[in-house]
Amino acid sequence: MTQAADRPQARRVAILISGGGSNMKALVASMTGDHPARPVLVASNDPAAPGLAWAAAHGLPTAAIDHRRFGQDRPAFEAALHAALEAARPEILCLAGFMRILTPDFVRRYQGRMLNIHPSLLPRYPGLHTHQRALEAGDAEAGCTVHEVTAELDAGPILGQARVPVLPGDTADTLAARVLIQEHRLYPAVLRRFARGDRRRLDL
Ligand code: GAR
Repeated sequence: MTQAADRPQARRVAILISGGGSNMKALVASMTGDHPARPVLVASNDPAAPGLAWAAAHGLPTAAIDHRRFGQDRPAFEAALHAALEAARPEILCLAGFMRILTPDFVRRYQGRMLNIHPSLLPRYPGLHTHQRALEAGDAEAGCTVHEVTAELDAGPILGQARVPVLPGDTADTLAARVLIQEHRLYPAVLRRFARGDRRRLDL
């Protein structure tokens, strides 16, 4: 598997996940050859996240910082997360299905170099249950957005979007599956540009 060592000048990318990590896998798979970045860490707030085991099995450094150990103390959780991240010296942070809200203090540390993928056409439907909300609104299209993370939830500068039609008979699950396919195209494409310093918006 791809390691930072095979391209020493590459931008160092840490990926944060909470679950299966299909977007993380798409990002990792993309960072080969002449790609300007390499993965240096996959971290999760859930030690049981299946994506962590996948990353470890593929030779990537991993870290698990169980947020439940910190109760309501979000700053303490973030201090532990920050320590794990800094040990890997990432230049870019990619949130990929990372389901913890980050405090403004944490965001500030990585502002301008932290990306997130969100399963809606922002600014529509920040937060949760995006597909159900798109269906209930009668939207003709849905999609996903990669954006820079700022202190306001799902509101940072948009770096790229991909769109899919909403089809008759769609459920939140069928729509989510169609959007996820586009997420796996969009996020690697945006990261490749971002790692070169290109922040122009990409529309797929
Ligand atoms: C993806 O659909 C991602 O857009 C979404 O969680 C899923 C994670 O899937 N993220 C959010 O909702 C963030 N607010 P994955 O673990 O298979 O990449």
